[in-house]
Amino acid sequence: MEEEKYPELPSTKYAADEIYFKTMSEDEAIKVFTEDGYTGFKSRANRFRNTPSDGKFATQPSVHHVAYEKDTDKPVGAIGYAPYKEFLLGSGIHVRDTSRGRGLMKLLFREMIRVKGNKKLIVNFSSKVAMNHYLSEGFRQLDESELPDELINEISIGAANGNIGTLEKYYIHNSSWWAAIKTEVI
Ligand SMILES: CC(C)(COP(=O)(O)OP(=O)(O)OC[C@H]1O[C@@H](n2cnc3c(N)ncnc32)[C@H](O)[C@@H]1OP(=O)(O)O)[C@@H](O)C(=O)NCCC(=O)NCCS
Repeated sequence: MEEEKYPELPSTKYAADEIYFKTMSEDEAIKVFTEDGYTGFKSRANRFRNTPSDGKFATQPSVHHVAYEKDTDKPVGAIGYAPYKEFLLGSGIHVRDTSRGRGLMKLLFREMIRVKGNKKLIVNFSSKVAMNHYLSEGFRQLDESELPDELINEISIGAANGNIGTLEKYYIHNSSWWAAIKTEVI
């Protein structure tokens, strides 16, 4: 008897072309998720447990790139940053609980790098998984020497309260890092 053939199971990982992005404020991003029945994405003042809730990292107006599933138009993740002086302050990377473990962090990260422009991005981490990913994509330990005092102060408070590290990334034209990211995305 001929063995029955089953179709291969689809990959559970998101492909880049299964996702699209919309850019919006933090309030709009929270609204998009809440209206879709997900309340896990909160304001920075509520998400950032370690840095001061009235500090620059938590309160500077931020830009968020929200990822949607093309098939369902469901919002599944968000990444953001807040311009401050000549820096961008990381406003968090978040994947909807039901979409975790499917490679979205990588796609969110790449969208941010694609659109963020030329400013130095500074990110505090409370998650080892997220910090390891940023390190693997070329972020490095923060060099505090160029930072204004108010940011150094907030980063120190964050570390004292349990943040596991702070990393930075420069956008450098024609670096091998940037070329590698571009090649893989295309
Ligand atoms: C952290 C978070 C963004 C990860 O998003 P995700 O889409 O589930 O992650 P991915 O599927 O893209 O995984 C990326 C990598 O991390 C690894 N990873 C993901 N979750 C993991 C976990 N819980 N434990 C160990 N490794 C994990 C994956 O194996 C993958 O590694 P690889 O690139 O070598 O395959 C998500 O869990 C989240 O939103 N958490 C709540 C908010 C948060 O903690 N944000 C970070 C604050 S610093």
